[in-house]
Amino acid sequence: MSVKAVVDLINQHEKDAVQRLVDWLSIPSVSTDPEYAPDVRRAAEWCAAQLREAGINAELRETGGHPIVWAEHEGAPDYKGPHVLFYGHYDVQPPDPLELWNSPPFEPVILPADGDGPDTPGERIVARGAVDDKGQVAAFLEACRAWKEVAGGVPVRMTIMIEGEEESGSVNLERFVEKHSDTLNKADICVISDTGMLGRGKPAITYGVRGLAYTEVILHAGDQDLHSGQWGGRCPNPINELTKVLAQLWDGDRRVTIPGFYDNVLGLTPGEREEWKSLGFDQEAALKRIGLDSAADVGEAGFSALEREWARPTCDINGIYGGYMGKGAKTVIPAWAAAKVSFRLVANQDPDSIVKAFRAWLDDHTPPGCRWEFHDHGGGWPGNVSTESKELEAARRAIATAAGVEKAALIKTGGSIPVVGLLKKELDLDTLLVGFGLDDDRVHSPNEKFELECFRIGMRTHAHLMDEFMRMG
Ligand code: BES
Ligand code: MN
Ligand code: MN
Repeated sequence: MSVKAVVDLINQHEKDAVQRLVDWLSIPSVSTDPEYAPDVRRAAEWCAAQLREAGINAELRETGGHPIVWAEHEGAPDYKGPHVLFYGHYDVQPPDPLELWNSPPFEPVILPADGDGPDTPGERIVARGAVDDKGQVAAFLEACRAWKEVAGGVPVRMTIMIEGEEESGSVNLERFVEKHSDTLNKADICVISDTGMLGRGKPAITYGVRGLAYTEVILHAGDQDLHSGQWGGRCPNPINELTKVLAQLWDGDRRVTIPGFYDNVLGLTPGEREEWKSLGFDQEAALKRIGLDSAADVGEAGFSALEREWARPTCDINGIYGGYMGKGAKTVIPAWAAAKVSFRLVANQDPDSIVKAFRAWLDDHTPPGCRWEFHDHGGGWPGNVSTESKELEAARRAIATAAGVEKAALIKTGGSIPVVGLLKKELDLDTLLVGFGLDDDRVHSPNEKFELECFRIGMRTHAHLMDEFMRMG
């Protein structure tokens, strides 16, 4: 009973695997919108049923919000490897704006390759959640199914926790983790497939995700909207004032000006600088794919694009609104203006302290006659993992074999997966991030896709990873 038989079976049954993924993607599990709650639950049930078909006794556990797909699996009687916690999420982002989709977001379609170069999309499945994260979780589910068929059961001892609220801030996860800490403490390593590769044919292990602090601020001026002829120049216009304040968030080097913002930031090591340079990342090509040229390579002075994404904290305004936003013109001084402002954080920045510092900075910059209203939208700690564990070595071998490359790259990502920092902080548990996405997968955007070649690499990697874990004693 070898891993070869498992991989052969995965190859033979690829069509069925794709069909199963299509079924899952057809369930609109949008976690942020309460209207979808029954669909979210249906997607969880679908996932639990798949695990049960693979001989894993999965169930739904309530969180107060959307349920978590949960399983505790013993593995083979002679299993001596690490106890693995598998984490993923079955919820998806809202599909909006709908009019930009070439096919309905919850009616998955398989599209043929556009070409065969490294810069053009290959054969792919298009739907909301295709790569983030159903397709990637499905790669794991398919590996479980194949191991069960070949060996009678999944050999690895594991706990499975597949969340339904990742895309809406994991608001109930911390409490759930605390409540289940006895079981979760038994895990030696967490495995997550919710990140990307370095590029087509360049599989990678991600050893760091950034943290996030998301806030919303409203600047209030008068208690009513006003005629801008009568009142313009006579009293504060909150949009003028808000934009003036927010523009001061960055200095000429594009560094964030909030006092103390960089205090705890762990700098890049000289080793990292060299290693990342040697990855041969082509920023100009990446910019080109989003319609920009090299003049657009901007960000914090003194750092390369990869360094800025992977190792530097940032501040972004994600939305700004207020005043007249309808058709045509309306001469108005609005009563208020608002912005959604978020920070991506790196080790060792604490999201709560950053939000506090931001609010104190805003208070110091309150425009005359105005007042602030603050809202917090949560976030999560940055998560960094050691690149020297034997589990990571095992994963590197699994990926290399599965993808037919000599060595998997070691990368970081600028995205955030709150559970990584949470598990480290609460349980001192390290995570292996083995993800199969591509830069141009349109994560969170219309026409999200997952390439079938990435799906194949994912299924095979999980099959090999289970084999590697079995060999560890
Ligand atoms: N899977 C993504 C994170 C990600 C995106 C990793 C791109 C690598 C590349 C995850 O589902 C996500 O979208 N996270 C959110 C954070 C969450 C708190 C809403 C993010 O990064 O914005
Ligand atoms: Mn995700
Ligand atoms: Mn996401």
